[in-house]
Amino acid sequence: MKVFVAPMQGLTDAAWRNIHAGVYGAADAYFSPFLRVDGGVVRAKELRDITSPLNERVQLIPQAIFRSVDELKMIADAVSDAGYSSLDLNLGCPFPPQLHRGRGAAMVARHDVMELVAHCDFGLDLSVKMRPGVTSYDEWKAILPILNDMKLNHVTIHPRLAIHGYKGPVNMECFAEMVDSIRHNIVYNGDIVSPTQIETYNNTYNIYGVMVGRGLIARPSMIEEWRSGEVWSIQRRISHLRQVLERLLRQYSETMCGDLQIIKHVQAFVEYVDPDFPPRMMKQLRKSQSIRAFEKALQEFR
Ligand SMILES: Cc1cc2nc3c(=O)[nH]c(=O)nc-3n(C[C@H](O)[C@H](O)[C@H](O)COP(=O)(O)O)c2cc1C
Repeated sequence: MKVFVAPMQGLTDAAWRNIHAGVYGAADAYFSPFLRVDGGVVRAKELRDITSPLNERVQLIPQAIFRSVDELKMIADAVSDAGYSSLDLNLGCPFPPQLHRGRGAAMVARHDVMELVAHCDFGLDLSVKMRPGVTSYDEWKAILPILNDMKLNHVTIHPRLAIHGYKGPVNMECFAEMVDSIRHNIVYNGDIVSPTQIETYNNTYNIYGVMVGRGLIARPSMIEEWRSGEVWSIQRRISHLRQVLERLLRQYSETMCGDLQIIKHVQAFVEYVDPDFPPRMMKQLRKSQSIRAFEKALQEFR
């Protein structure tokens, strides 16, 4: 079974992917935060992310969010030009600014656009990442025939409605129904926080893979622990996490300006870190206002 890393804007960028693969060993693939068209062009920031030399160590699959075939074509061309052969289609984003423009999870109900997408040749291997719908667990049924007719490497399912964001229980009944109906390789995504849970999904469902997001930021060793069957001690996890944070600091210092911008970026990762870690350590890292203070807090946990 494959273990993929979920796309997460502001977190799973080229720097983090490179460091994650270096410190823990690479996941089967990493999905890029979504690329989108803004003002008639594909946004430069996300293009820089997928063209960074820091991606050399990992298998990266770029992701597109779109509201029309024209937007998707522009992104697909940019992704091809960047040398990629795969593209993941975002049919799950719940953020209102995207949703209200008909992108992300809103696309699940837009069979007119999906019909056109299905008949277009983008010259790339496609996959889909989707939710069941925006407000109802039945919305996906409208595009089911289209999805089943498409040539897709896999379909990742996050079984929550867009109106629920990333909170509340995942709907495993809906997931099971989607697994039975969608004639593609299925990847499960949602709330996996431990290597044991990866194994449970592996044993319970006939799936192609799982995709891990917030749980992996919290416990970046999760995939390696699952692969090796060895549960890491808290000490080992802390010492590796320290390496990750130190390397992120170094990497962001090369590309960003100003202590505070750099520190806020690294602190975004600390927000997700495992609740089992010493609260004093986490507090010191969270409240650091400068790179020096952050580094000093890290030193204490050698
Ligand atoms: C901060 C943040 C940013 C995200 N950005 C993206 C994105 O760019 N594309 C996407 O498909 N999903 C995005 N997601 C959703 C995740 O990929 C994933 O589906 C979600 O976090 C549920 O999985 P998890 O419980 O393992 O975290 C984002 C989630 C978070 C919390």
